[in-house]
Amino acid sequence: MAAEIIDGKAIAGKITEELIKKVAVLARSYNVQPGLAVVLVGEDPASKVYVNMKVKKCAELGIYSDKRVLPADAGMDELLQLIDELNNDPKINGILVQSPPPPQIDEEAVIAAIKPEKDVDCFHAVNVGRMLIGDDRGFVPCTPYGVMKLLEYSGVDPAGKHAVVIGRSNIVGKPMMALLIQKAKGANATVTCVHSGTVNQSELTRQADILIAAIGRPEFVQADMVKPGAVVIDVGINRVEAPETKNGYRLVGDVDFKAVSKVASKITPVPGGVGPMTIAMLMHNTVKACMQQHHINN
Ligand code: GUN
Repeated sequence: MAAEIIDGKAIAGKITEELIKKVAVLARSYNVQPGLAVVLVGEDPASKVYVNMKVKKCAELGIYSDKRVLPADAGMDELLQLIDELNNDPKINGILVQSPPPPQIDEEAVIAAIKPEKDVDCFHAVNVGRMLIGDDRGFVPCTPYGVMKLLEYSGVDPAGKHAVVIGRSNIVGKPMMALLIQKAKGANATVTCVHSGTVNQSELTRQADILIAAIGRPEFVQADMVKPGAVVIDVGINRVEAPETKNGYRLVGDVDFKAVSKVASKITPVPGGVGPMTIAMLMHNTVKACMQQHHINN
């Protein structure tokens, strides 16, 4: 039987509706507007698209946005000076530096320079630590947060299930594992991480009740790597050449959607799965940052 599609666009739409109401209350009752700074260094075409999508989403929600673009050859001094300015700008509650930056930029140093209370990506060590210990004063990183919400809204409770995360990046794989193992409602899974150093990858992925692919390799997950009835979440967004299309490329995930949807019970599409959720959760974190900075409780 064909898998049920987990509609990330629709779920992100519901979360967005709630946030629009919250932003309106903040304006009406507290006279505050959340603000997000989005920093892009260089001209990477995919990054440009993502940054513009984030700015557009802010406008849809009534969130103030400040887009800053630095040239591809910008140095650390220039970028750190900008971070300092944004750290001290009261209109800005959240700061995001689009990843990956050009090679001359020391990304770790840039992340460390962002004030933890404005680190809506949850990349700063303070927030990563808070997430790991289950301290909700920090943030939850947008993509793994989006995956947890997709599971929640589609009625998949990870408790007692075996979740296998493919990939161990700081942005997705590692925090994804941390969230799934929390002793908390909507989590409490048994977690395995499969990565490039894992020798028996398929053997492990075939044990997954929930399989989360986040490795950035087009259509890596094939049907024979998936247990019949598994829930499959595809975090990948890969551009592959497609001369027949207008842009010359098409977007595919880390999962062979056509083949795997014949085996899985539920599956996310690409695009329209995890992608819209990442942006929705970024907006959520920006609103949370604003409320915390203004000492407003729910
Ligand atoms: N590049 C890919 N995903 C992300 C993300 O969640 N945040 C930032 N800043 N850059 C990214």
